Amino acid sequence: MKKVALITGSKGGIGSAITSQLVNDGYRVIATYSTGNLQSAQDWFNEKEFTNEQVRLFELDVTNAEECADRLCTLVQEEGTVDVLVNNAGITRDGVFKKMTVQAWRDVIDTNLNSLFNVTQPLFGAMCEKGNGRIVNISSVNGLKGQFGQTNYSAAKAGMIGFSKALAFEGAKSGVTVNVVAPGYTGTPMVEKMKPEVLDAIKGQIPMKRLATPEEIASTVSFLVSDAGAYITGSTLSVNGGLHMH
Ligand code: CAA
Repeated sequence: MKKVALITGSKGGIGSAITSQLVNDGYRVIATYSTGNLQSAQDWFNEKEFTNEQVRLFELDVTNAEECADRLCTLVQEEGTVDVLVNNAGITRDGVFKKMTVQAWRDVIDTNLNSLFNVTQPLFGAMCEKGNGRIVNISSVNGLKGQFGQTNYSAAKAGMIGFSKALAFEGAKSGVTVNVVAPGYTGTPMVEKMKPEVLDAIKGQIPMKRLATPEEIASTVSFLVSDAGAYITGSTLSVNGGLHMH
């Protein structure tokens, strides 16, 4: 029996690389996509040449607690297990705080932070009962160091780290590890939509003078969920080219 990994926001830049990596590692991946985006999810699935055995597309609004509870309980019954959860879904709504709308604040907190409650709670109990599970939450360098124009995003990404440390305590005696990967600036559509001059200035501050590749983030996730990562819990692994050392 293949192990099952659920990855939220699978077809995004980092999510897609994590999906490919875990498929290569031998997992069956449940790849979530947001409401109404079936066509683009199918296009991504076809482009990657996944099989239905390797990847199951799964519609999930990570901001909707009731929907997550309902659909994820059904999923566990259908699949028999979810061994690995990667909370990867995330958005940006950048803007200076003085001009930030309440909508830009709420959208980011809902998608990036409240989603951790919504998606993790229905799966965590089953992992504890089974005595085995791996949860990896994708935060950001900007949750660790803060970033001009990202009060909403930095708050959510820092919140993910506190959540993960607290849940790591609760999962430890049941064999469920909870860790954070904190990517730096990574070559994805999210980063590519930044103003070129702002991105150039940030690149200049990175000691390695380049963006991360999505595959470099994915291989870190792969390590954490593997047997080799069994004794790591409550940790935050930075993958940021030296942009922030903590
Ligand atoms: N520190 C201090 N001051 C800064 C600054 C900084 N880092 N950046 C800009 N400012 C100043 C500017 O000099 C300017 O000052 P004046 O008004 O005196 O001229 C003022 O702040 C306004 O700056 P902008 O012209 O940039 O304002 P804007 O409204 O056009 O843009 C912004 C605001 C969209 C937030 C833009 O500053 C920006 O894109 N910042 C970077 C945000 C960022 O890093 N986002 C990451 C997205 S990718 C991601 O999030 C993935 C991940 O995890 C890493």
